Amino acid sequence: MTKATPSSPPIIDYEGSGYRTDFWEGQGREYEDRTERIALRRLLPAHGRRVVHLGAGFGRMTGELGGYDHIVVLDYSRTLLREAQTRLGTNSRFTYVAADIYRLPLADGSCDAAVMERVIHHFADVPAAFKQIRAVLAPGAPFVLEYASKRNLKAILRYWLRRQKWNPFDEDPVEFVELNFDFHPAYMARCLHEAGFYTERRLALSYFRLGLLKRTVPLSLLVALDSWLQPTGQLAPCSPSVFTLNFATGDQPPHAIDGPLFKCLNCGGALHQDGDTIVCEQGDGRWAIRDGIYDFKEALPE
Ligand SMILES: C[S@@+](CC[C@H](N)C(=O)[O-])C[C@H]1O[C@@H](n2cnc3c(N)ncnc32)[C@H](O)[C@@H]1O
Ligand SMILES: [Zn+2]
Repeated sequence: MTKATPSSPPIIDYEGSGYRTDFWEGQGREYEDRTERIALRRLLPAHGRRVVHLGAGFGRMTGELGGYDHIVVLDYSRTLLREAQTRLGTNSRFTYVAADIYRLPLADGSCDAAVMERVIHHFADVPAAFKQIRAVLAPGAPFVLEYASKRNLKAILRYWLRRQKWNPFDEDPVEFVELNFDFHPAYMARCLHEAGFYTERRLALSYFRLGLLKRTVPLSLLVALDSWLQPTGQLAPCSPSVFTLNFATGDQPPHAIDGPLFKCLNCGGALHQDGDTIVCEQGDGRWAIRDGIYDFKEALPE
């Protein structure tokens, strides 16, 4: 299920995956879903012009971005994007984009907000991903990022009981399964800073992500307790999931929210639409638009 290209680190490919039905629907994860929505509502400014939902999957959380005029739903999996389309509709407020976050086809400074939850844990090269994301954001734009934290209570306990070899206090990412990483909060803070983000808030989530608790304690109580504990993440989160609110620092790239959304993946120049394709004005690339999805996963042959 992984794919490597010469120009990009390996990518996990959810094409054809049953992520929605195998992981979420009817799988006992209402606690995680509800607490993540609470965190996102707490962090993301409610209104804005153009938000990009990176690694949106089947659009589970995209409905939370409804206060934005234009919502770019981006994922590497066409199958999941189709499910997102079914869920959210083909209203012109939504633009569906199949693309790799390591090679974003979005114009510099074209978005005034970005959201990415449950995605960065698949990235072997976090700085490369953050660099791409920073480039599409206008100065001052918020970036809500969720990541899986290695410094969580379960991992700490297992380490102390010698049931786990890797050290949750060590700042390097740990790859516990191929292309599945847990990150130390200090590592993430450093990568965000180096990419040109200022981290303003941090929330700790999912302290109660334990089968026994989820089976025995009423959902509403677990959600209320989680919500109450979330702000403790500002100091030293020891939870398995961390939500952060970051802002793009500096004055580059120039604000381009009113400009075109896309750029050419080959030369960075402008694209124009020609029927059901989107074409580089310099003539060095074209990509398909299929059933309302702008497909930048592969260029069309010349
Ligand atoms: C665990 S799912 C999370 C989906 C959604 N964010 C959610 O929370 O329901 C991870 C998602 O990240 C996407 N993804 C992983 N690597 C990607 C990449 N390099 N570029 C774009 N999307 C990627 C996958 O296709 C998948 O939809
Ligand atoms: Zn070009």
